[in-house]
Amino acid sequence: MATTTDTDDAADAQKYEGSRVYRWLDDRLDLNDEFLGKAFPEDRYASFLLGEVTLFSFITLVLTGTFLGLLYRPGAESITYGGIAAEYAGKEVPVAFASVLRITYDIPMGMFIRMVHHWGAYLFIAAMGLHMLRVFFSGAYRNPRELNWIVGATLLFLGLVEGFMGYALPFDEYGSTATGIGFELAGGIPVIGETVKKLVFGGVWSDNASAILPRMFFYHVFLIPLILGGLIAVHMLLLIRQKHTEQKSSRDAEADVAGDDESVVTGVPLVPNQLAVTLIVFFSVLGALAFLAGLFPVQRLPLWGPNDPFSTPSGVAPDWYFMWVFGVLKIIPDFVPRAEFVGGVLVPGVVATVLALWPFIDYKKDAVHFTADPIERPPQTAVGVGAVTFVFMLSIDGMNATVANLLGPNVATATATHYLLYLTIIVPIVWALITYYVLKRGVERRESSNAMPSDDSDTAAAVSDD
Ligand code: HEM
Repeated sequence: MATTTDTDDAADAQKYEGSRVYRWLDDRLDLNDEFLGKAFPEDRYASFLLGEVTLFSFITLVLTGTFLGLLYRPGAESITYGGIAAEYAGKEVPVAFASVLRITYDIPMGMFIRMVHHWGAYLFIAAMGLHMLRVFFSGAYRNPRELNWIVGATLLFLGLVEGFMGYALPFDEYGSTATGIGFELAGGIPVIGETVKKLVFGGVWSDNASAILPRMFFYHVFLIPLILGGLIAVHMLLLIRQKHTEQKSSRDAEADVAGDDESVVTGVPLVPNQLAVTLIVFFSVLGALAFLAGLFPVQRLPLWGPNDPFSTPSGVAPDWYFMWVFGVLKIIPDFVPRAEFVGGVLVPGVVATVLALWPFIDYKKDAVHFTADPIERPPQTAVGVGAVTFVFMLSIDGMNATVANLLGPNVATATATHYLLYLTIIVPIVWALITYYVLKRGVERRESSNAMPSDDSDTAAAVSDD
């Protein structure tokens, strides 16, 4: 493992001596100074790259979103669509819907860029979730990184809100219906619900869409990305200030780098080593999104048509990352008072609060700069496995009608939902307990085998006796 010590600086200088470009840059930028020489975990820890994947998805979203934002028109009033999409040519459709049809079918490269944006949003949320799990299971949230965990949890929450706002913008029947569910939930918050609806959004979805769409457009293209960008900058500054956690290896005997001792920093420098890896991650993200956008374009507009205030289509579901909230709403029993508020706001709110405050639940008084091995932490890993299973189960609950269909033609959705409720409580607990006991036995075994004298020492003892 490389270390950014003076000896290594000298070795680096020698290594790159031949490179004129490196020397030219080094003369001007002092590549081995504190920032550019910042040590990154070695690239064999691939899961450390998930944060970068998230970052590059965000950058891609901003770039493609800027293109879309220049052409999109937020309005619910009717207009005649004059483009080439045969199904709607010459027909009256809402302004927002017409502008998205235009981007998709009439503007060169429009469909591709829109689809990169669509898949970029999925990758952003998925990579962020996986990055969070990496941080959770490796215990990287512990002292002194609690604050960065909270910044991250806020980013996750805002990322979901950003996705929600974007879903509604094309004003198609599918997105509008899903958005309507979110609006009803917001309106159901005791005391402030109606005020939130009026003040933040300007009315009742979708009756007052002419007032709501421009507001959502402003939040989606300007306000939330600005806050996200600012928080990402804070996240990165904290990361640079506190440095990455490192994986413990035999070289870093705990005695060498104990507690809060930051003097020994291992890893590869930002420039040029990490930069090369980062560029590979960046172009891989772009390549993956271009591949998905080109081969799997999602065509909701022609399938569902523009928003129709007089119909409620069946089969509408939120995007996958909101499916778990939809699941809570589906399984919440009727006897629960204010079920919509409890299921749609209170339960997700409690989950989000526990998540954000987790570093204080699993609190560490002393600073830890090493990653933890999940296998060595049965309680925390069990909680993580239980939580992931819970969210998976809730997402399955969100598809309760499909589950009933899969179980057989005579299985009513209500019956399937009833059993899903029990399974949603039992399955995560069972998985958490299995994880806990299996890992605990492993830890105990390792401890007892470490305590036993090894065969070698027996032999050594026998030889010396002789
Ligand atoms: C816009 C969303 C986010 C971006 C762009 C982002 C980016 C990054 C990057 C590039 C790193 C360093 C590389 C790595 O460890 O993977 C990092 C580290 C970190 N992130 Fe995030 N992240 C985001 C969201 C989150 C979330 C949702 C959480 C947790 C709730 C989180 C918690 C952390 C922590 C605690 C570290 C330090 C880890 C360590 O030192 O090992 N981040 N983030």
